[in-house]
Amino acid sequence: MSALVHKTVLLDETLRAVAPKSGGVYADATVGFGGHTEGVLQASSPDGRVIGLDRDQIALASAKERLATFGDRVALVHARFSELREVLQANGYEHVDGVIADVGVSSPQLDEAERGFSFARSGPLDMRMDRSSGETALELIERLDEEELANIIFKYGEERKSRGIARSIKRALSDGEIASTDDLRRAIVRSAGPRRAGNVDPATRTFQALRIAVNHEIEELEALVASLPDLLADGGVAAIVSFHSLEDRVVKYAFRDDVRMEPLTKKPVIAGEEESTLNPRSRSAKLRAARRVPREVAP
Ligand SMILES: C[S@@+](CC[C@H](N)C(=O)[O-])C[C@H]1O[C@@H](n2cnc3c(N)ncnc32)[C@H](O)[C@@H]1O
Repeated sequence: MSALVHKTVLLDETLRAVAPKSGGVYADATVGFGGHTEGVLQASSPDGRVIGLDRDQIALASAKERLATFGDRVALVHARFSELREVLQANGYEHVDGVIADVGVSSPQLDEAERGFSFARSGPLDMRMDRSSGETALELIERLDEEELANIIFKYGEERKSRGIARSIKRALSDGEIASTDDLRRAIVRSAGPRRAGNVDPATRTFQALRIAVNHEIEELEALVASLPDLLADGGVAAIVSFHSLEDRVVKYAFRDDVRMEPLTKKPVIAGEEESTLNPRSRSAKLRAARRVPREVAP
């Protein structure tokens, strides 16, 4: 188990939206360290089931320990949530009574230096949630040309200085100066300048952008929300927690524009004062929920 702790965000609010019941079957698309899954299993006692997915094997190992007492009420699967349909089918389910997704990275992923997610910790430039496959951040930076890199920094980091930053990164790379998160941050600061308003590190947006690109986070989320109307049983609820506006937009429109889904949250639910104080990471969390309209009304 990781010594670093992940505090589950918006747990009560998510459970209120999904309202797990005994006999129900639920999917947790991002089981992580098992917080939401544990809540669903407790609320659907004695026989509700959860199929939990995560693309990170380290997180799954940790969730397995935490959830061991629930026995075969929980199945944990190493998979991306764009594969939710296949995972459910392999477990014998066509429909589930609820789907939870708490997207993005966990605190332990961010905090463990060797994962390479954070500019605050020196580590290799990896950033993959699933370390068993895909391109690392360093490989991505090597493969993209300067313009492509700038476009990613602009699109996923909403970084106004994307062009200069991309130039500085590519120059440092060709000078053999980029191997670690420290090196990357140095190249960014060289172009973007020192700290910004609110003491935000100038590397924040670029690191976010690279992480999103490395893990195909937006494409994954789009695939997940597109699969929900088929996978939810009539009346089943999807509850999705996201952490930045690009993700929230994807969820908002998917729930609003599909006649098969009835949005349950006009505005996203955000953390209350107590949770925000106890867990600063929850301050940017937004929960949206929607219910599957019965198929006789919207096939
Ligand atoms: C914020 S954490 C989830 C924490 C969890 N709800 C808890 O309470 O412990 C997000 C998790 O989602 C996983 N993840 C992110 N994108 C994923 C994807 N496309 N498919 C599967 N897992 C994903 C990450 O590896 C991470 O473990």
